[in-house]
Formats: sequence, structure tokens, C-alpha cells
Amino acid sequence: MTPVLQLTDVTVRYRGAATDVVQGVSLAVEPGQSLALVGESGAGKTTLLRLLLGLTRPTSGTVRFDGEPLTPRDRRQMRTFRRSVQCVFQDPYSSLDPRRRVAAIVAEPLRSLGLDSRKTAAPKVATALERVGLPADTASRYPHEFSGGQRQRIAIARAIVCDPRVLLADEPVSALDLTTRVKVVDLLAELKQERDLTLVMVSHDLSVVASLCERTAVLERGRLVEQGATEQVLGAPEHPYTRRLIGSVPRLPV
Ligand SMILES: Nc1ncnc2c1ncn2[C@@H]1O[C@H](COP(=O)(O)OP(=O)(O)OP(=O)(O)O)[C@@H](O)[C@H]1O
Ligand SMILES: [Mg+2]
Repeated sequence: MTPVLQLTDVTVRYRGAATDVVQGVSLAVEPGQSLALVGESGAGKTTLLRLLLGLTRPTSGTVRFDGEPLTPRDRRQMRTFRRSVQCVFQDPYSSLDPRRRVAAIVAEPLRSLGLDSRKTAAPKVATALERVGLPADTASRYPHEFSGGQRQRIAIARAIVCDPRVLLADEPVSALDLTTRVKVVDLLAELKQERDLTLVMVSHDLSVVASLCERTAVLERGRLVEQGATEQVLGAPEHPYTRRLIGSVPRLPV
């Protein structure tokens, strides 16, 4: 099967920086697969996700979508890409525009892709809000009226409203308290299952990784040091860095 997203020997060096923050990374995301990107702070996880989203351009190497090199100038490809690949960010406070009602926020992908007017978007917005477990009157309210967990549900509703094939998520639950976290992880798992979504997720919470992602890739200072089935990578890590990463996770005394 053609990978839906693929990085081939990708390197990123930010302007003015002395070193590469991503070095020679090759990675393929198969349709329907879920992949976790793990590694310490600064390892380059967000940069990798931004590469997959087309927001950061590689300094060298290739990013492919459905087998074709991602070309921001190609408007037709970008349209298909944006419809197919949506994202959820870490901070549900800064990722939702406080001046807009939830209806407008969730409808944004439909409007910017030119798929719907305000009127035709409304039923799709209602369906998406219902799907993420929010009451119908959510649409007419503002983000500040909601808790962090509810806001992240709004962000997820916005991400699924145009029926994407791929969801990219950067630490989607790490700003949430533990019980809320579990509920949002359950929601992501359900969506993945029922829509056959491809999920690429950055998380430092290895229990979230283990419950949501079939595959795990481990990044150490911009290099991919290990990747494979999550059970294998987290259960029987081969690379010393992965072992240290797993060993550094605090555990509750039982
Ligand atoms: N826009 C930028 N300009 C310059 N350097 C950047 C930029 N964004 C990130 N970096 C640097 O690139 C490296 C990787 O950053 P990145 O945000 O990808 O790491 P991360 O693994 O997501 O870390 P965290 O777990 O803290 O979110 C860091 O050293 C960071 O300082
Ligand atoms: Mg990050």
C-alpha cells in the first residue's frame, strides 16, 4: 500500500541555527495505521509533525502525501491535502479564537476549503459537536465558556468536521487533568476505530501512546533511533535511549 504520509531522508535546519534539528529521518505512515512520535523535549517531535502538515519545509529530503511530493505551490494538491489531513494541537486555550463562536470555529475547515457556506456548514458542525460529546447549544457559545477538556473536544470537532483521513495531534491531552485525559483518549480511540482514521500523535505520556498507537517511533536529538510495533518498542526496547526514556517515566507507587 502507498503510505499516506512519508518522509524520506528529511533534514531540517532552522534559519540561523548551527545544527540540524531533524537529521536524515525516514518514516512511512500507512493508511489506517496509528503512529506515536516520542522523545525528550527538544528532540524534534513538533518539527516532524509540522513537516507532515506541510507547515515546515525540509531543508533537504522529501515529504510525500499519497506518494506524491508535497508541493505547497500546487493548489490542487494542497486542497486535497488540507481536506484529508487535519490536526489537533496541545493547548486548547490558544488554539481556539476567543472572539469567534464555536459554530464559526468548528466550521472553519469547511469554509476555508470552500465546501460550505455558513448555512450549509451548520448541520455538519452540529453532527461533529454531537460526535465529540458536546451539547447542541455549544455552537452558539464562546470558547471561554468551556473547560480545557471541552475545548479540546471542540478542537477535535473542528478537525473531523470535513471527514479527514488523517489526524495529526501534538500532545493532544497533556494540558488536561488525568480523568479528562482518559476521556479524550477514549474519544480519539473511538474516532480512529469508526472512521478508520490514520493517526500520528506526539505524546510524552507513554501510557497514552500504548493505548492509542500501533506503532512508535523514537526520536533522539533529531534522529530516529528506533521504530516498530509499540509493544516491541515500549516492551522490549533495543536502543539504550529508548530504555532511558521508558525508565525516566515517573510511576505512581502501588
Ligand atoms: N521556529 C524555530 N526556530 C528555531 N528553532 C526552533 C524552532 N522551532 C523549534 N526549534 C528548535 O528545534 C528543536 C526541536 O524543537 P521541537 O519543538 O521540534 O521539539 P519537541 O520534541 O517538540 O519538544 P517538546 O517536547 O518540548 O515540545 C529545539 O531545539 C527547538 O529549540
Ligand atoms: Mg513539541
